[in-house]
Amino acid sequence: MEATIVSEMQKHYPVLLKEIISVFSPQHGGTFIDCTFGQGGYSKKILDFENTNVIALDRDIESEKIANQIKKNFEDRFTFKNIKFSQLNNLKLKNENIRGVIFDLGYSYTQIKDPQKGLSFETDGKLNMQLGLNSYSAEDVINKLDEKELEKIFKFFGDEKEGKYIARNIIKERLKNKIDTKALVEIIDKSKKRKNFKVHNATKVFQALRIFVNKEISELISGLINATKVLKKDGILGVVTFHSIEDKIVKYFFKSLSENKSISRYKPVTEQAEILFDLIEKKPILPSEKEIKENQPSRSAKFRYVIKKKDFYDFDTDVKEKFRNLIEIENFGVKL
Ligand SMILES: C[S@@+](CC[C@H](N)C(=O)[O-])C[C@H]1O[C@@H](n2cnc3c(N)ncnc32)[C@H](O)[C@@H]1O
Repeated sequence: MEATIVSEMQKHYPVLLKEIISVFSPQHGGTFIDCTFGQGGYSKKILDFENTNVIALDRDIESEKIANQIKKNFEDRFTFKNIKFSQLNNLKLKNENIRGVIFDLGYSYTQIKDPQKGLSFETDGKLNMQLGLNSYSAEDVINKLDEKELEKIFKFFGDEKEGKYIARNIIKERLKNKIDTKALVEIIDKSKKRKNFKVHNATKVFQALRIFVNKEISELISGLINATKVLKKDGILGVVTFHSIEDKIVKYFFKSLSENKSISRYKPVTEQAEILFDLIEKKPILPSEKEIKENQPSRSAKFRYVIKKKDFYDFDTDVKEKFRNLIEIENFGVKL
């Protein structure tokens, strides 16, 4: 068993690790929350520094196996919880001195290679895409939502320009057969007039389905809000994103709370929200050429962080309003 875990870990490459450690500086000790434990790349590195504690979360129960290995060496300093990071506020962390909260969004190498997870268009089988603790699968979405809803998911979550034809052909095909991964790839190939030779035809639709099935937009927004609530003054909130929607949300959330303006429509100007964050670097930190060469998937990673300036645990943010159209699309899932 141990051998499997070790060999899987060797394939795994924690993105921007050096940069993350330099920003969070665990050499000074403290408690850190790793919201996306995965294969434990960040957690293990932080635990290497004495006087650190790590609370790690992951929605994928598979991560628990790796967490249990780490627990053997760091019994008193490491805790793992199989929960979604949107539930961070249920951890009762009010009295903990949280120095940092880290998110490394998306999925891991192990997850994309797992045929049971059905995340990739390269593996045959059932359309799934559930990372863990989900309410429905990609198969439910493709076989049950209506044409207009599918078209919106492909357009807004995948920026797929030909989503209309793809959605139409899905509806036609599912009257005859249940659609699995292979059938979906064939429908996309058939529907797309504009061929892109650099990117696989199915990339955008698969990204859109993954975002939808895992409710990545509302997860991220609630995760950011709850992470901000548990952080103490001088605590750091850092996020690694992999697609433009995630990055837009993080950028907006950080910027809107680091500016001196009223961010609430409901409060009079006299009760202006105080500045909550220090945004040290406006531009995201990107992987070096060396890292991209060693680990191709890191090429789309962007790391942004802020430092909390106040001991405020309740604050106003209009981030949900700002991205309401995307949250409404995710809510198509309530009928599944
Ligand atoms: C890119 S991997 C993280 C890799 C990790 N930094 C490492 O070094 O091993 C992303 C992880 O986040 C988890 N994840 C994604 N969305 C989540 C959510 N809403 N709540 C909790 N975990 C989530 C995935 O299951 C996956 O294991």
